[in-house]
Amino acid sequence: MDTIEKTGKYILNTYNRYPVVFEKGEGCFLYTKDGEKFLDMGSGIAVTLLGHCHPELVKAVKEQAETLWHTSNLYYSTPVADLAEKLINATGAKRVFFCNSGAEANEGALKLARKYGKQNGKTNKTKIISMYHSFHGRTMATVTVTAQEKYQKPFYPLLPDVYYAEYNDLDSVKNLMDDDVCAVILEPIQGEGGVHPASHDFLKGVRDLCDKHDALLIYDEVQCGMGRTGSLFCHMQYKDCTPDVFTTAKGLAGGLPMGAFFVNEKTENILQPGDHASTFGGNPIVAAAANAVLDVFNKENILNAVKENSSYFVESLKKLQQKYNVIKDIRGVGFLLGIEIDYSAAELVKELLEHHIVTVPAGTSVVRFLPPLIIKKEEIDLVLNALEQIFKKRT
Ligand SMILES: Cc1ncc(COP(=O)(O)O)c(C=O)c1O
Repeated sequence: MDTIEKTGKYILNTYNRYPVVFEKGEGCFLYTKDGEKFLDMGSGIAVTLLGHCHPELVKAVKEQAETLWHTSNLYYSTPVADLAEKLINATGAKRVFFCNSGAEANEGALKLARKYGKQNGKTNKTKIISMYHSFHGRTMATVTVTAQEKYQKPFYPLLPDVYYAEYNDLDSVKNLMDDDVCAVILEPIQGEGGVHPASHDFLKGVRDLCDKHDALLIYDEVQCGMGRTGSLFCHMQYKDCTPDVFTTAKGLAGGLPMGAFFVNEKTENILQPGDHASTFGGNPIVAAAANAVLDVFNKENILNAVKENSSYFVESLKKLQQKYNVIKDIRGVGFLLGIEIDYSAAELVKELLEHHIVTVPAGTSVVRFLPPLIIKKEEIDLVLNALEQIFKKRT
């Protein structure tokens, strides 16, 4: 049996996979066993932010793998402490908890919020508000705050006391807000829900409402964090909308499984020994990779490159839109970009794959471009040429 047949026979059938087996990756490119070369504009869904097998990441992981793999959080670990220091210094948060995925990071943030609500003997402050079309993960708590029925319905009953508001509609949040709300969770840019950035007025308004009702503001930066929007975290681009808690994962360790949630001064002492834990969270090998990611960010000025090359990509997409009206909209920030088209996103993803370009759909009509942050203009041109050929054929 080949890989595709074995997968079909032995692995739980929860993914719709494209019929491709990637064997190797280098920089922004993926290769099949037969040597076919694909440009990776998906980064494994916003993960491999320094491309595939970046030499500095490989070196860091190799060195750590030859030194120490795992000890558990019962003991101290130098790569983890170093990483925490770097992240805290770079973000202004007070403390961080390490876990293994985005869902886990959000799960931890939600647990923290529920405990926050119980302070001072309160019993009713348990309400959580999230946004329609959000995506926060697949665990029971995170699928509950993921306000999309298609992900929730088979798993009813969900977590109690969760309410949904319209994204970028402050009145909708206001209508649900009262002193029983312990947290509002939202993505500064909704990724999976179709690449919708939050307006500044919306985030500021939600921040003010949270302050008024003593609720925590949680930003899910699992997808939009770690440099993808041109700042280390997306919320840094919004003035006066700092969250109490924010989460990240995906790109944090450049391709190894790692998540984290960050807390501010108000929330740094809510979780106490025994409240929350993870066997693998902050494993030395993934921490070594994450340290290397941050070092490369600084050394290679990655955030500037994101801003510059993303502008080039967006401007070029706009020119394409003037020629081909199949492009209805171009949205996003940095390298969390999406184009809305007037036909099926799944179809365009397939067409691009035939041109050896890997992309990711977001809903039915949006195709996401989430390239490695190291992508160069010449590589972006490959995507633009492929889109031009595809759209020309359709008009
Ligand atoms: C914004 C956001 N939050 C949470 C998650 C869940 O992350 P994970 O798949 O690592 O659990 C995702 C995954 O796509 C995401 O985009």
